[in-house]
Parts: sequence; C-alpha cells; structure tokens
Amino acid sequence: MNRTFIRVVDLYKRFGDVVALDGVTLDIFFNEILVVLGENGSGKSTLAKVLYGVYVPDRGKIIVDGSEARFSSPFDAKKKGFVMISQRPQLIDDLSILENIALFIGEPPSGTLAKRIEDFLKRFDIGIDVHKKVFSISYTEKQFIELAKALLINPRLLIVDEAATYLPQDLKTKFFEILRRFVSDNRAVIYITHKIPEALEIGNRFVVLRRGKVARVFNGAANPSELRHAMFGTEEYLKLVSRQLLQRLSKDSKNVLSVDKLVVLDDYGKTAVDGLSIDVRAGEIVSIVGVAGNGEKELGEAIAGLRKASSGSVKIDGFDVTKSPPSERTRKGLVYIPEDPFKEGTAVTLSIIENMRMYARERLSQDVVLDAIKKLGIVPENPAIQVSKLSGGNVQKVSISRLLLTMPKVVVAHNPTRMLDERSRALVLDILQRFSLSGGGVLLITEDVDEAVQISDKVAVMVDGRIAKLFEGGNLESFRSEIEKAMVHG
Ligand SMILES: Nc1ncnc2c1ncn2[C@@H]1O[C@H](COP(=O)(O)OP(=O)(O)O)[C@@H](O)[C@H]1O
Ligand SMILES: [Mg+2]
Repeated sequence: MNRTFIRVVDLYKRFGDVVALDGVTLDIFFNEILVVLGENGSGKSTLAKVLYGVYVPDRGKIIVDGSEARFSSPFDAKKKGFVMISQRPQLIDDLSILENIALFIGEPPSGTLAKRIEDFLKRFDIGIDVHKKVFSISYTEKQFIELAKALLINPRLLIVDEAATYLPQDLKTKFFEILRRFVSDNRAVIYITHKIPEALEIGNRFVVLRRGKVARVFNGAANPSELRHAMFGTEEYLKLVSRQLLQRLSKDSKNVLSVDKLVVLDDYGKTAVDGLSIDVRAGEIVSIVGVAGNGEKELGEAIAGLRKASSGSVKIDGFDVTKSPPSERTRKGLVYIPEDPFKEGTAVTLSIIENMRMYARERLSQDVVLDAIKKLGIVPENPAIQVSKLSGGNVQKVSISRLLLTMPKVVVAHNPTRMLDERSRALVLDILQRFSLSGGGVLLITEDVDEAVQISDKVAVMVDGRIAKLFEGGNLESFRSEIEKAMVHG
C-alpha cells in the first residue's frame, strides 16, 4: 500500500514571461524514490526549489502529513525535514569540510562531528581529512560531502537535483545504495534528472515534466521509449546520430589542428599532458576519450591558449600558435567549447544575445540569433533573457552556439553534451557532424564513449596524459568494450 507523505497541489511559478511551473500536482509516497524527469528547462529545478523553500510559488500548496506547509526559506523546509542537494555543490571554498558541515547542521565543529563525517565517507572508500579546505577537493568529493551534510540532519525528504548525475559510475552506484537504504525507513527521495538510463536505474515511480506541466506519471515500470515520448513528444531525434559517417570519411585533407609532443602542467605543477601528439584533418572528427583527471582538461585548455605549454607545439590551420594568446588562436580559426559553461563558457550576467555577439565579435541580427536558438533548442526562445536565469543544459547550449556564429576551421569541444538532455545532445552531435561534413575539423574531448564511437572517424584513449590507444576505421561501435577497457587500464 502506498501511503501519501507529501501532496503537491497545482503549483504555479512564473519568472517574467516564463511559466516555469504550470499547475503541477503530484504525490510523494513514503519509502519511495520518485524520479522527476524532463528535458533541459522543463521546470525540474524550479519544482525542487519550491519544495525546499528557495522560491515561494505564485499559487498552489504543499501538503505534508495531511496539513499545509508554507516555506518562505530553506530554513522552514529544513524544519519540516526537507533537504536538497544539487548539481552545483553549495559549499564555502575557504572553509574546511568540517566547518562547512558544522555550519549547515548548526553544531560546533567538534572532534565527534569530525569522526561522524569521516565514518560516513569511509563507507564510500573516500578517505579524506575533514580539516581540508573545500577548494582543494574534487567535484566527486564535494558531492559526497553534500550528501553527508544532508543526511546528518536526519531528514525525511531528500531532494537530489542532478547531484549524482555527473559522478563516475562506481561512485554513483554507491550513492544510489545510500538513497535506497535511506528511503526504507518512512522517508522519501525526489530524484531529479534528465537522463533516462539513470532514471530507470534508481526510480520506483516516474513523473515526467514538460514545459512546466506534468506530462505523464508512471506508477511503476517505464521503458525508455515511453519516457522519451513523454519528455519530448517524439523520439525522431535518435535518427540524427550516427548516420552521417559514411558520407564523410576524410580524404587526404590537410591538418587543421596539429598537436605535437605537447607537455602541459596541472594547477599543482604536476605533468598532466605528457608529450601528447594528435592531428585533426579538415572534415574529420577525432575524439579523445578518458576518465576525468587524465589530463584531458589541461589538453583542451592548452590548445585554447588558456594554459601554457611547457614544451611541444600546437598548430592551427598550419600556423604555430604555441605561444599565442587565445584571441590569436580564434583569429586563426579555432573555436574552443569549455567543459564548464558557467565559469568559462558564457558570461552569465549577460543575456543570450549579448553572449552570442561576444562570440561572433559583431552585432548579430535578431534572425541569426533566433536561428541559433532554434537549432540548439534553447529554452526559452528569448534572446534577451539573462544567461544566469537559464537551466544548466541551456547555458551549455548558449556556450556551444559559438560554433554556429563564427566560421571556424577547427572546433575543440570538451564534454559538450554532458549536461544536455537526449534530444539536445542529438542536436549538438548533429551540428558537429554537419560542421565536419562542410570541411571543418573537430576534436571532441569526452567522457562519453557512446558519442565518441557514434560520430568519430578516430577515437584516441587518453590515460595519464598520453594517448594509450588509437582506434580508427570502419565501425567504431564494435570497439566499444576495448575502448572502455583501455580507458581504465591503458
Ligand atoms: N530565477 C529565474 N529567473 C528567470 N527564469 C528562470 C529562473 N529560474 C528558472 N527559470 C526558467 O524557468 C524554466 C525552468 O527552469 P528549470 O526549473 O531550471 O529547468 P530544469 O531544471 O528542468 O532544467 C526555464 O525556462 C528557465 O529559464
Ligand atoms: Mg535543473
């Protein structure tokens, strides 16, 4: 028997012209993991923030244990036992792990608390000194600190807004085990994601949001095809991927990017890229796949001119740019799409159109801007909206638009589809393929083996700053398991 824990009734929330929640009604039962699934910009985070008291809804009710709860801040929500963790860690960089958690749960940073936190982290094989400052720890560690922080206040509802989505699979599995154990004792989890496989892995029931409305509820089993239809109204986009390869296979075109024996250091002065060489010809898509932390980020930054090369060289369209600033590389025909669209990809305090003008270095007509917005499926289709007001995937799409607004010779893109829903991902992979069909070169640096094998001519596996293996020719999909093995074992 499903017993109702929380009822969400007719929630409505608008921001200016955008209706983010448009009459959302749903029930959350005890002992369940309820997945809320939806494309980028469908209203998932807004729903989470209303439930956590960050936003006050314009209309509608939240009923907890049969009576109405009104939250005017997360403080009120926490008193009801609601906690939220999200994609971006909410930690203060200059404080230690212990101080951060103490602050959140309202206890002094005592030795006993330190022990409790360390015991919790040990369950994930994360052995970390809790006196370390937060700025020195990895994204994955931060997310487990967030989970520890949330669970230490002993909540009844845990809202997980894409907080596990970007963890490595082995740690994600552990994260999920904790969530399953957590809900077994008269509690609940709302698990928010745009990724269908992840939803199916963790969910007991599924609510699909589309343009701020509940499109469909699955009380029990769901399959990918039904979920796609509920999310996007179609699965036609699946055809965009993996079909243009045969038309292209490059001739003897010239190199638009040559990286030769490149050595690059990381932020701590350790060798991150260790004498790596790779070429990309006009009309070719070359992927570099690797587990995060193997130097792929430093490689991208060194090609873009954002990080110094210690030795070796980078040529764009035949010109040696090893010592050139980023602007010079742009002039020679490089477009770099960084991994983090918030930090490096966009100016978040500017509007969509202002960002696009910055990329293009010129005044763009409203038509050109709207066309880019449509091609990338940016939601909402409003050029004047400030980028900070967009959902994560849409910020990523704004960052990617630079590829459409200039006429580059070569594009270097680092995890460009990581934050994107399935349809947006297909649109972006299609854009990359069209670009290469028109004679551009693409270096795709990615953790996503699927996209690498689907669209590339060559796949290079990067381990410890070097190319461990190169796969090329024919159907790269047949090398998938070999590629995955090489990513771990070199
Ligand atoms: N603070 C805000 N100001 C203006 N618009 C916002 C704000 N927060 C969200 N939106 C808009 O509301 C819609 C839903 O966003 P969001 O809930 O973040 O989507 P999701 O989490 O499903 O990707 C988007 O169109 C987004 O641009
Ligand atoms: Mg979101």
